[in-house]
Amino acid sequence: MANSTWLPGDGTSLYVHVPFCVVKCGYCDFNSYVVDDRSVHDRFLDALEAELVREWRFGTPVSVFVGGGTPTLLDPERFRRLFELLARHVPLGECREVTMEANPESVTAEKAAIARAHGVTRMSMGVQSFHPHHLRFLDRAHTAERAEEAFAVLRASGCENISVDMIFSVPGQTLAEWHADLERVLRLRPDHLSCYNLTFEPGTRLHRDLQQGRIEPNDEETDRAMFLATRERLAAAGFEAYEISNFAGRGGPSRHNDHYWLQGDYVGIGPGASSHRRGVRCTNLKTVESWAGAVLDGTPGAASAETLRPLQRAAEALWLGIRRRDGVDLDLVARRTAVSLSPFEPTIVRHEAAGLLVRRGTSIVLTPAGVLLADMVGGDLLSVGSERPGSERL
Ligand SMILES: C[S@@+](CC[C@H](N)C(=O)[O-])C[C@H]1O[C@@H](n2cnc3c(N)ncnc32)[C@H](O)[C@@H]1O
Ligand code: SF4
Repeated sequence: MANSTWLPGDGTSLYVHVPFCVVKCGYCDFNSYVVDDRSVHDRFLDALEAELVREWRFGTPVSVFVGGGTPTLLDPERFRRLFELLARHVPLGECREVTMEANPESVTAEKAAIARAHGVTRMSMGVQSFHPHHLRFLDRAHTAERAEEAFAVLRASGCENISVDMIFSVPGQTLAEWHADLERVLRLRPDHLSCYNLTFEPGTRLHRDLQQGRIEPNDEETDRAMFLATRERLAAAGFEAYEISNFAGRGGPSRHNDHYWLQGDYVGIGPGASSHRRGVRCTNLKTVESWAGAVLDGTPGAASAETLRPLQRAAEALWLGIRRRDGVDLDLVARRTAVSLSPFEPTIVRHEAAGLLVRRGTSIVLTPAGVLLADMVGGDLLSVGSERPGSERL
């Protein structure tokens, strides 16, 4: 795969979705469920292997991401089974990046060792905050101290590439509290950081609380001050802001995310997982039971398939790509989607004139002013391709 003609976004990545969590966090709209019945975990693993056999025929993936949900929630026996079944069908040891998401409350030395022995090269752990009242507000199932211990456990397993997720602008959070969170996470010496501005996703507890007036979001000025403080502090600590919310330290950027942002092909397995191949996006049935039932009956786990029009594909590539520090290479997008990007020119020219975008070679890149308005610029580019797609229920 890594020959001289390889371009970023070439090849196929694999995403494995483990849909179980110990609690449902108030802000999270990912497809995850609190399920105590371990027989459901077994059925999930049975179906996962069946789907992997059915869907993965691409040799060595560009990258693998075992995410969720909470992969580390599985008990040691089932956790081992997860990695054994993946290793039976995918050459994990040959992949340049195999990431696993880990949650502080369920990380153990045994699970970290199992993951490492099966080729995991990168661990990504959600910490979100070090303040007890914010952790409670977010419904996190761990303390700040437990998060620090779990980080030490991952490090002691020999993992040299550990990323930590943090969230800022929790309602009521002060700039001083966020500064303190940044200092405390830096003391762990992570190799990569993701710092997300809290969003209120429809369907979540926080969204309902917001709509019913029980909570109030921080004002825009506070959001912006925290965003800028993050960039400044992490730059001083040697982290490169290679994407709006992502900061590469010694571990470098996440190859898996970069592959998504560059519109690379990927296969997603597990309930609710999406796949994207050559402009066709499929999304799996959401609940564990409906998905496992279909897969174990020998039928596809996908509920829908959407053929993206070339212009829509290009629009998505620009929307995601513009968030990267290096911007998005228009020639590469045009080549990959086989469409002329001229419909985007008026929008690009308008944002250039407003000082939000610049051209660098064949790429467009956000200026420092544009970085603050990335959602607006990206949204404008996305809307250029937004006629209704051809969508088909399977
Ligand atoms: C899919 S979640 C899974 C991570 C893992 N289960 C955990 O909780 O640590 C990945 C990350 O997305 C971020 N995230 C999810 N929903 C968010 C939201 N509404 N606003 C901001 N960040 C969010 C969190 O930082 C979280 O760690
Ligand atoms: S943030 Fe993580 S632990 Fe919380 S519900 Fe979402 S996936 Fe589960």
